[in-house]
Amino acid sequence: MHIPVLKKEVLQYLDPKPNENFIDCTVGQSGHAIGILERNKPNGKVLGIELDKDIFDKLNLSKIDRLVLTNDSYTNLKKIVEKHNFKSVNGILFDLGMSSWHLEESGRGFTFLKDEPLDMRYDTECQSLTAEEIVNNYSQEKIEKILKEYGEERFAKKIAKRIIQQQPIKSTFQLVEIIKKAVPGKRTGIHPATRTFQALRIAVNDELNNLKKALPQAVEVLEKGGRIVIISFHSLEDRIVKNFFKDSNLNPVRDNGNKKEISKSNKISNGINILTKKPVTSSQEEIKINRRSRSAKLRAAVKL
Ligand SMILES: C[S@@+](CC[C@H](N)C(=O)[O-])C[C@H]1O[C@@H](n2cnc3c(N)ncnc32)[C@H](O)[C@@H]1O
Repeated sequence: MHIPVLKKEVLQYLDPKPNENFIDCTVGQSGHAIGILERNKPNGKVLGIELDKDIFDKLNLSKIDRLVLTNDSYTNLKKIVEKHNFKSVNGILFDLGMSSWHLEESGRGFTFLKDEPLDMRYDTECQSLTAEEIVNNYSQEKIEKILKEYGEERFAKKIAKRIIQQQPIKSTFQLVEIIKKAVPGKRTGIHPATRTFQALRIAVNDELNNLKKALPQAVEVLEKGGRIVIISFHSLEDRIVKNFFKDSNLNPVRDNGNKKEISKSNKISNGINILTKKPVTSSQEEIKINRRSRSAKLRAAVKL
């Protein structure tokens, strides 16, 4: 069952009011979007963007009143807004990464807990690069770099070497066995394949670059006083959001007693004020119900 992460906190920071308009850049199974729609009645709309055609088709079949859907990438945010003539945007949400549907039902190899083909694409129509292509056709150096950069995997070199030795690799379980043999001893805390799977998914979908492309567009399309809320699930994404917020922050905040310089890199018209000094995380109660929420970090800002 799909449970939206940090739903209460998303609504608290987006603060939807009657008749306001919002964009959900990662509408997924529409959990957050429905929460917003309950608050911006009777005429407020949500523009929902979803890249995955399979998820999109399901959403589109069960048409929800005031939810305008588009099967596209949030990297095209400005164009999407223009195309739909979606005006007065009071809030924008990004709930990054994959959804529980990808893990549980997609059959595309997002999880190391199921034996599936190594695909990992969100966009199976227009995108050709798969995880199978990476592990079978990239050089050892390139694979090592992906595992290091996108998975922060300590054993990247060892895993990459074994991957090259064991090709061809077709399935998730085959890859898990390779990782287990490459990683010395037992690892505490996480499954030994966690970091490799995260790295491959990020590389396949170019997730970090997509986020970097989308954030400035999001601030640009927001109305003054509008809010942007972003939920990330690993430190690489959170760092991008944190740095983007810092660079766009127009309100000089006191930090270690020194006044920070007002960012000169951003046009005044696209300045923001950070609402979350530290990222908001899930409560113990939420983590108990939804394990995926344990790594969620929410950051929010308001456009000045
Ligand atoms: C964590 S889920 C969102 C869940 C959603 N908030 C809900 O309550 O159901 C993230 C979604 O973003 C989608 N996605 C990933 N990259 C995307 C992109 N570049 N553009 C649009 N959607 C994307 C994924 O397919 C996935 O469905």
